[in-house]
Amino acid sequence: MKLRMIAATAAATIAWTSPVAAENAATLDLMPVPRSTELGAGAYIVGADFSVAVEGAGATDRLRAGVGRMLRRLSDHTSLFFQPATFLDLSARDGVSMTVSAARGGAVELGEDESYTLTVTAEGVRLEAVTDIGALRGLQTLLQLVTLDERGITVPAVEITDAPRFPWRGLMIDSSRHFMPVDVVKRNLDGMAAVKLNVMHWHLADDQGFRVECLAFPKLHQMGSDGRYYTRHQIREVIAFAAERGIRVMPEFDLPGHATSWVVGYPELASQPGPYEIERGWGIFKPTVDPTREETYQFLDTFFGEMAELFDDDFLHIGGDENTGEHWNDNAEIREFMEENGYADTHELQQYFSQRMQTILEGHGKRMVGWDEILQPELPTSIVIQSWRGREALYEAAGRGYSGILSNGYYIDLIQPTDFHYLNDPLPEDAPISAEAAKRVLGGEATMWAEFVNPETVDSRIWPRTAAIAERFWSPRHVRDVDDMYRRLDRVSLRLEGLGLQHERNQRMMLRRLCQCRDVDALEVFLGTVEPVKIYNRGQQRKHTSFSPLTRAVDAARPDASPARRFRQAIDGLIDGGFHDTDLLEEARSWLRLWQENHAALEEIFRSSPALSEVESLSRDVSEISLSGLAALEILADGETASRDWLRPRLDRLRAAKEPRGQLELMIVEPVKRLLCVAVGEKGSDEPGCRADESMAEAAPSHRPRCLGLACRGRYRGSGL
Ligand code: ACM
Repeated sequence: MKLRMIAATAAATIAWTSPVAAENAATLDLMPVPRSTELGAGAYIVGADFSVAVEGAGATDRLRAGVGRMLRRLSDHTSLFFQPATFLDLSARDGVSMTVSAARGGAVELGEDESYTLTVTAEGVRLEAVTDIGALRGLQTLLQLVTLDERGITVPAVEITDAPRFPWRGLMIDSSRHFMPVDVVKRNLDGMAAVKLNVMHWHLADDQGFRVECLAFPKLHQMGSDGRYYTRHQIREVIAFAAERGIRVMPEFDLPGHATSWVVGYPELASQPGPYEIERGWGIFKPTVDPTREETYQFLDTFFGEMAELFDDDFLHIGGDENTGEHWNDNAEIREFMEENGYADTHELQQYFSQRMQTILEGHGKRMVGWDEILQPELPTSIVIQSWRGREALYEAAGRGYSGILSNGYYIDLIQPTDFHYLNDPLPEDAPISAEAAKRVLGGEATMWAEFVNPETVDSRIWPRTAAIAERFWSPRHVRDVDDMYRRLDRVSLRLEGLGLQHERNQRMMLRRLCQCRDVDALEVFLGTVEPVKIYNRGQQRKHTSFSPLTRAVDAARPDASPARRFRQAIDGLIDGGFHDTDLLEEARSWLRLWQENHAALEEIFRSSPALSEVESLSRDVSEISLSGLAALEILADGETASRDWLRPRLDRLRAAKEPRGQLELMIVEPVKRLLCVAVGEKGSDEPGCRADESMAEAAPSHRPRCLGLACRGRYRGSGL
């Protein structure tokens, strides 16, 4: 109880002192920020008599269902008892609180009009859009505007004119590495709709699992999935669920590499004889389809014909990434084929494969999408390049007439902080491409690779960070205020939880399971100081397979730990302002006292929880570091300076504390180090460990991947290097 109160006090202070730039007052709590927002005077008061009329040629069943969901959420959010007629009678009539009008039904396809205008006055609400899909986007904005406070339930008077910056705003979900049941996919589609994302890229086949029922070649799902695949009925259900929300579903079947699960049932497709088993590890593997045999293309033609009928999106993703080419080089017939055709290397052979795939997909009415490895001049410009290794490929492709989407910088599996993703722009002002080429940059996708997530933890890696990425794709380029983003993200996160996403609530459940106890407050406080190791470090620090538990402290921990971030902000503010700000001082003290006392509260739990023992020393370090931080803070608050003899042993402790344990790293080392160094005064600045160019930031968010491309993922995916 005591811990909760302290935490609450600290949080309240932070909200109070958090800087919100004046120009951002108009962002309200909206995420993504609309193109234009003009605040009026007063507010509309929402009561139990709230009613909606839907009108226009775009008053489709989809829009009516969307209004129904909006009303359900409004009622859930406010606990207002709407009359049954509120939900049932959406026809135009006098005296309705809100009118929604759309000029036509939209198509769930790239480039559809998603614009809308939303006008709120004290008298009522009016939402107008060209398409029903645009109106759905506006309904989400309205829900985010509803405010519950001392004035009651209100919507501020406002005039919003909105449209997306990019037409392709996606989230990739990897259902191969860990299977994600339909309900997981659906709740994430609800989350996507809430932040106006419009493409669910579904990674359905990889070495570790083939996840779609296939009528023509049933051994694909029967032998390649451990029985964990989506039936055709389920696929249709997900596509319909997404379409109801104006979201496209683009499937990916990764080829010619990442193909183990294909060749378990059909080894004749492979470049080496087999037999093959489903891959259980993470990394880059050799099984590759044989691109030299006509039978391969006959198989793929039939397969993609079936999938083209099942998935109605115009685009189909064939992967194309991370083919080592080893199984090709090791096959005499394939080498002979390469020689006969004058292919200098396996890269050129893959170009041949991509061309054949493009012809097959075009034959089935699909535009081919692939990772940037597939880019080559022979392919028609109707294909789309998804750039994961760097934005150069995106701009190069756009310059050569290809459309592209950016995923480099949006790898949310790498546990990077929200602001890193947020500030990563698919098309920054200084992008080295012409205005004409810039039009071919269609947007981007966050990618949720699933080596280290399961249905229980996946939401916590996607949300809330993906809401900030969604803003990058939707809002004008100049919307970049990181403090304001974090302020809004905090609120949006709660709204997303209200939709059924489990990123917040599962943490406490996981902690209860870890400690086999009910009171997990102190564990939660501990997790506020740590984050999972970043980039590709988790797989390097410990070998994992698809059977490894994802129930440890590292899995319960969240990316971008909010208490640690707030503490860093407070310390930055104090150092910049000379330790005179009493609110900030009190806030920093509150965190440090909370953390300093926390280990004692956990000792008993550590004694009886073997699964937590791997992080016990981290918890002890939190306590010790916080004690040092408190001492430094008092010295600074008193206007005194500390001696170097005081500093050195404390810096040594900090250096040791930055070492990750249990794949968790402490996020409070760097700010405490800064405090200690400042406490030594001028002479601190040249002390080893304190110099400006020296950082303990190994444990702090790393803003740049340390390795990129093939080598990087190979290391990461458990090759043990
Ligand atoms: C990828 O991350 N290999 C596309």
